[in-house]
This record gives sequence, structure tokens and C-alpha cells, in this order.
Amino acid sequence: MIELKNIYKKVNNRIILNNVNLTINKGELVTLIGPSGCGKTTTLKMINRLIRQTSGEILINGNKIQNEDAIKLRRNIGYVIQQTGLFPHLTVEENISMILKIEKVDQTKIDKKVEELLNLVGMNPEDYKYKYPSQLSGGQQQRIGIARALAMDPEIILMDEPFSALDPLTRNQLQDEIFSIHQNLKKTIVFVTHDMDEALKLADKICIMKDGKVIQYDTPDKILKNPKDDFVKTFVGENRIWNQPELIKVKDIMINNVIKSSPERTSIQALEIMKSNHVDRLIVASKDNKLLGIVTLRELKFSINENKKLKDIMKNNITTINENDSIVNVLDIVENQKIGFIPVINNDSSLVGLITKSSLLSVLSNQFINKEVNLYE
Ligand SMILES: Nc1ncnc2c1ncn2[C@@H]1O[C@H](COP(=O)(O)OP(=O)(O)O)[C@@H](O)[C@H]1O
Ligand SMILES: [Mg+2]
Repeated sequence: MIELKNIYKKVNNRIILNNVNLTINKGELVTLIGPSGCGKTTTLKMINRLIRQTSGEILINGNKIQNEDAIKLRRNIGYVIQQTGLFPHLTVEENISMILKIEKVDQTKIDKKVEELLNLVGMNPEDYKYKYPSQLSGGQQQRIGIARALAMDPEIILMDEPFSALDPLTRNQLQDEIFSIHQNLKKTIVFVTHDMDEALKLADKICIMKDGKVIQYDTPDKILKNPKDDFVKTFVGENRIWNQPELIKVKDIMINNVIKSSPERTSIQALEIMKSNHVDRLIVASKDNKLLGIVTLRELKFSINENKKLKDIMKNNITTINENDSIVNVLDIVENQKIGFIPVINNDSSLVGLITKSSLLSVLSNQFINKEVNLYE
């Protein structure tokens, strides 16, 4: 865990960082994002003590880093920067293994580690081990930069706009690479970027900075759904959430006040409820709010003379969706099962809402028709 507590940085009486507080849990990937000059790099370099704060404290796993040996600290913190910082006169193998050699790691272990790391970053060891950085593309150089940062198996990796200089295709590939490295190795990663798409794609949490301050620090979906102020709103971009449909949850778009009925009601009573609420389908639920079935207006009309109870008429094998599923799952059901009426349940299997084709349509059309509509209020 990394903790920044009340961090200030002053340079020539100018405040560069203004009371930054940030807790990054073990294994999280946090992106720092904000306009140029807002203090991202300064914050990052304080974590490996390349820059010293004017006041405040930084703790790693509860220990103040100013009490630690700076070199030892940096060995446990991988660092990847845009310019890669590879040594041009050293081969790929030598670049990756340099610190391991300084640490006097056994040569057979080094050879094995270099191979393992090259494979990890998607480069065939036999093809690339003996190449020099200048013989590699920008993307390949950055892969070597990542391999080198992982050489000492550090718990933490700091990355400062590592992919900004790459073309979009290569950038995307490396983002995927980092995502899977993070999933597989469970490193704590602090990743500076100025690209919101990149932040949304990678981050467990996003820290939005401005003028040396943390403006909002939260999960991507919270930032998209509840931007704290106009700065964040503008920074994130109008309607950005529609680029990330998997972040739109069923509970964000469902109808909350479901018209429902007890299974003991008669078809005449049910018909009355439907008429007065202008619905053509009725959800049948138990007293403790468990979904039992659905009756349609048509089915009711057929049985009206028999005056049956709903429990005898209702259809009870029903497709439901969980409130935490995404709009993508909803569209999947609508498309594949050709249904447009989906009760929503929570993790306790209680009925909490409803998605209908027309409610879905109105949510989807809002993004094109009325910018002012806020889905989440
Ligand atoms: N060595 C330095 N001396 C004086 N000012 C600096 C120095 N390094 C950075 N700054 C200033 O600190 C602010 C934050 O810089 P930086 O952390 O690099 O921002 P970011 O990475 O978000 O673009 C900027 O206004 C920059 O001009
Ligand atoms: Mg920077």
C-alpha cells in the first residue's frame, strides 16, 4: 500500500503540490490524470524519492520512505518512462539484466529471468536478446522498458506516460499487455497519463489532478457517473460513458417503481391494476418481493370469465437480469432471446426493478437527443 499524506511541494515559493492525499492499495492500478503541469510527474517521482516533498509524508506498507535507503527503495519500485531510458550501447539482454548483475544474481538465474521477462512482454527471446535498442521499434523499446522494470520483481511499478509517444495501434496493444501483466502479477501500478481513454481502460481507480491538487479520486464508473465538479465533467467529456457501455449498470437504467401484484389476486383485479397503471404486463411477486411470474394483458383477457387467480395463469419461467449486470448484457438478452421485458433482481434474488424495450430505447436515445438528461439522478 502506498500512502501520500498532506503532501506539499514548493519550488521558488510556487506551490507545485497542494495538500495531496492519496491511498493506493496493494495490487491496484491507479492512473493519475490531469492537464499538463498539474503535478502528475512530481507526485510519481516522490514515490521513488526522485523528488522530495516540502512537507507531508509518504508511506509504503506503513513505513515512511524517507527513513529507507533510496537505492534499496528504488530496487523495489519499477519505473517506466516515455523516453524508455534504455542504454543504447547495451543489448536488450544487458539492459534488462543490468540491475540483476549489480545485485550479483547468479548468471543462470539471470538468463532464465531475461527469457521469462521477454516472453512476458510478448517478445521472442532468441530473436531479440542480442539486438540493440536502435534496432527496435518504439513499441518494442517500451516493451523492453517494461521488462526491465519487472526484473527485480518489484512490488510497485511507476509508469509516467509510457505509451504517449506510440502510434494508436501499438499503444492499444501495450495497454492490453499492461492490463494482463497487472491481472497476472498483481503488482501495484501507478500510471500517469493525459489520455482519458487510457485511464478508463486500465484503471481500478482514477485520480484527477488540477493545479497541484487532487480533484477527484474514485473508480472509473463513479467518475463517469458522478463527476465532482464542472472541471471533472469537462475533462472526462460529455457523454463519455457511452464509450464505456460496460460501465452502465442495469440499476442505473432500470425502472424502479415496478407495477406488481400478489399471486392471490384474481384476473379481474389484475386487469384493473394494469388499466389504471397503463401497463400491458404485470409482474407477480411474493410478499417478501421474490419474483414469481409474469402475466400479460392478453393472457388475462382469455381467462377473464373463468376468474382465475394470477398464480394459475402466470408464466413462471422468466429471464431475469442482475442489477449489477451492464447494459451490454441487457442488449444481449434482447437480441438473442427476443424479449423486451426483463425483471431485475439483486444478489438476494429479490425483485428490484424492470427493464422494458421502451425504457431501454428512451435511455439510449437520450444520448443523441438531450444532453441535459442525467440518467443517474
Ligand atoms: N525542477 C523544477 N523546477 C521548477 N518547477 C518545476 C520543476 N519541475 C516541475 N516544475 C513545475 O511543476 C509543475 C508540475 O510539473 P509536473 O509534475 O511535471 O506536471 P505534469 O507531469 O502533470 O505535467 C509544473 O508547473 C512545472 O512547471
Ligand atoms: Mg509529466
